[in-house]
Amino acid sequence: MKWQDKYSVNDDLMDKQHQKLFEIVNRLEEHMLSDSALNQLVQTLEELSDYAWVHFKAEEIILDELNIKNIVAHKEEHFLFKKKIMDTTQKFINDKNIEQVSELHSFLVHWLQNHILKIDMMYKV
Ligand SMILES: [Fe+2]
Repeated sequence: MKWQDKYSVNDDLMDKQHQKLFEIVNRLEEHMLSDSALNQLVQTLEELSDYAWVHFKAEEIILDELNIKNIVAHKEEHFLFKKKIMDTTQKFINDKNIEQVSELHSFLVHWLQNHILKIDMMYKV
């Protein structure tokens, strides 16, 4: 995933956190493609889920402050995103099937692009 200006929400902290999410997702892909050890993949998945939590918490403070519409739906999207990562990580730990990490990676790329461009842009000032 490559950061582009179109992803900017005009908030330095949010842009930096979104860039960091891109970076972790890219690292996940590198580990997938280079046959890295399973624990490196799991570690990266856990880092992603932890960081997504940090980011969503910070972003939701902004949403609450601005009191824009669709806050509930926005938070629900965040919740489902974290849940998807955590569920897939748990499944992967159990069955070691790399296929589902690859599917998750595609999901993450599309979700992040769509979410930033369509949902997060609503709080851009
Ligand atoms: Fe968001």
